[in-house]
Amino acid sequence: MPRFVFNSCFGNFFLNGKPRMNPLEQLVTQAHADFIDAPDAAALENAKAKYLGKTGQITEQMKGLGKLAADERKAQGAIINAAKEKIETALTARRDALADAQMQLRLNAEAIDVTLPGRGRSVGGIHPVMRTWQRVEEIFGSIGFDVADGPEIENDWTNFTSLNSPENHPARSMQDTFYIEGDDSEGKPLLLRTHTSPMQVRYARMNKPPIKVIAPGRTYRVDSDATHSPMFHQVEGLWIDENISFADLKGVYLNFVKAFFETDDLQVRFRPSYFPFTEPSAEIDIAFGSGPLKGRWLEVSGAGQVHPNVVRNMGIDPEKYIGFAFGSGLERLTMLRYGISDLRLFYEGDLRFLKQFN
Ligand code: PHE
Repeated sequence: MPRFVFNSCFGNFFLNGKPRMNPLEQLVTQAHADFIDAPDAAALENAKAKYLGKTGQITEQMKGLGKLAADERKAQGAIINAAKEKIETALTARRDALADAQMQLRLNAEAIDVTLPGRGRSVGGIHPVMRTWQRVEEIFGSIGFDVADGPEIENDWTNFTSLNSPENHPARSMQDTFYIEGDDSEGKPLLLRTHTSPMQVRYARMNKPPIKVIAPGRTYRVDSDATHSPMFHQVEGLWIDENISFADLKGVYLNFVKAFFETDDLQVRFRPSYFPFTEPSAEIDIAFGSGPLKGRWLEVSGAGQVHPNVVRNMGIDPEKYIGFAFGSGLERLTMLRYGISDLRLFYEGDLRFLKQFN
């Protein structure tokens, strides 16, 4: 005698102990399989429609309920609802699984291998010439000098003419100049400034005496060897007042080199020279009393009393005001301070060289 066991709300029939599915149970199993087969979200939505869509199989079953008697309808309705819930649960589970898989795929694609050794962060440093620049500003700042900054593309008047080097004056050929294509507003050539001296005139025309300023910056000349580079750095100094003498220049410069080289054991001397914009003019030499450069006179700066023509071009009365100017090479000062013999080392960007100064 066959024995049926009604095992769940929609019926797992066991026929002689072997399970036999009712149609709704089969529908659930099939839906489950379809959902598992769906490789992606779009396929899954299509599979869902087969069961839960407007004309889906569960929906059709629901429609059929109307034909049943009231008590049967209630029982069958409950069975269909239970099936529907199972299908919905399976659907949600598959949706989650697909979303998880998608996420896993992305995570794998964007994975970072945290076990790779780090690149490290190397410490930057200040270029030795820049370090000199900063020290020069600090030292002159400490004795009341203002710091000024000006254009590297200069006009002919400010770079030469205002500094008492008229056109065609042979002194212009002391500085082999890079000219720029195009002219200034007066049709005069533009050029890369050959020295920081034009800053004397620029600054003085914008400020009233007493004037006490340094102007460090880049300068350019057609020059290239172990001690010359087409781009180099200078610091200009200018002090104009009613009663300034060479003694002041010597005092200021001696104070500067002692502070810069961090020794009192050195001497400064003026050696007569020529610059169109100073009269009289001098080269400033220094000599260390000790160290590897002991006893040698080393040229560090051009200098002189500002020429009356230049004072006039500054818009200042040369009968009333007097002063001095100097121009020192920052590379030169750096080379002397650290004992570097080839200027080109500064521009090669070789970290083995540059690291030594930090
Ligand atoms: N400008 C001069 C040069 O570059 C240096 C200098 C500056 C000389 C100021 C005298 C006074 O060679």
